[in-house]
Amino acid sequence: MGLSKLGQTFTAREILDLVKDDLERVEREISLESVASVDAVTTISRYLQAGGGKRLRPILVLLASRLAGAVTDGTIRMAAVVEMIHTATLVHDDVIDIAKTRRGRPSSNAIWGNHTCVLAGDWLYMQAFQMALRERNFRVLDLLITLTQMMVEGELLQLECIGKIAISEADYMELVDRKTASLFSACARLGAMMGAADEPTEARLGEFSWNLGIAFQLVDDVLDFTSHEKVLGKPVGSDLREGKVTLPLIYALEHASTEERALVDNVLKDGNYDRAPFAQILRLIERHRGFDRVRERAQAFTDKARAIVIEFPDSPYQRAMLALTELVTDRDH
Ligand code: IPE
Ligand code: IPE
Ligand code: MG
Ligand code: MG
Repeated sequence: MGLSKLGQTFTAREILDLVKDDLERVEREISLESVASVDAVTTISRYLQAGGGKRLRPILVLLASRLAGAVTDGTIRMAAVVEMIHTATLVHDDVIDIAKTRRGRPSSNAIWGNHTCVLAGDWLYMQAFQMALRERNFRVLDLLITLTQMMVEGELLQLECIGKIAISEADYMELVDRKTASLFSACARLGAMMGAADEPTEARLGEFSWNLGIAFQLVDDVLDFTSHEKVLGKPVGSDLREGKVTLPLIYALEHASTEERALVDNVLKDGNYDRAPFAQILRLIERHRGFDRVRERAQAFTDKARAIVIEFPDSPYQRAMLALTELVTDRDH
């Protein structure tokens, strides 16, 4: 499993040990529920499940349930549901982004092609909803449907931003809210619901996870520039190559010279780093403190998340939630 980095630190091991048995049940649930009457879907689902992934979203469901009360059969099912929704968005996202690599392996679209992957993604979404339906809980369905629409609208808005250099911080934050934080928030809310939390508790856990999700994506967008393909499991510099101007660059562009701006524009126009080498773009962002400022911003969101969790009674699960916030900002993939 792709939790190698998490496994290295004591606090991380603590989190993993706490949720290990539950997470194994979630994996079994995903395997059982990813079988379609058409082989292509089953094969793609298995391929993605075996490819690793940090399983952050199911972990959030599990910990939220623990904090609220107890892990129930519903918790396990919902943890599987959110990971399957996450998988469906990744399958579609890689088609949209013409991505070649995911989780250190060829992306599903690179192997099975766009047509099959669009349909496999649709199937996974619907399977996740069918599983959620078994709860016979309209609030669960309402939350998941609103969430999925938010995420799809986010991908549509992102398409409108592709290739544009003049992306504002507000535009960017809206995308991050939609494509990442909304799912993080939903995970904690679902976990809370399954643990029979009252509504204020559910809302607090949702807010915790929303802040964590924003920080997670900000760090992700830094790592897209600063990490290495072997560690990240996808090529570095992909965002800009795909035409996405993310926060490190938005901040750097605030102070960039006309020549520096032209450099960024070249990558956006060409879709490669032939005229403006990646190292030069990196230096430009560093010179204008783009990475530092985004890391500081991410830290502010994790601080908010921590402030919410600290209000909960002390328990191993509360400490695990706190450790999770540190891992999100300290991670390398
Ligand atoms: C990838 O999410 C999509 C983003 C929101 C950046 P993760 O980085 O959690 O992906 P996996 O599941 O660990 O591969
Ligand atoms: C992640 O979007 C997919 C969704 C959350 C919908 P990105 O395109 O920004 O992420 P990566 O870099 O492919 O993981
Ligand atoms: Mg992508
Ligand atoms: Mg994308």
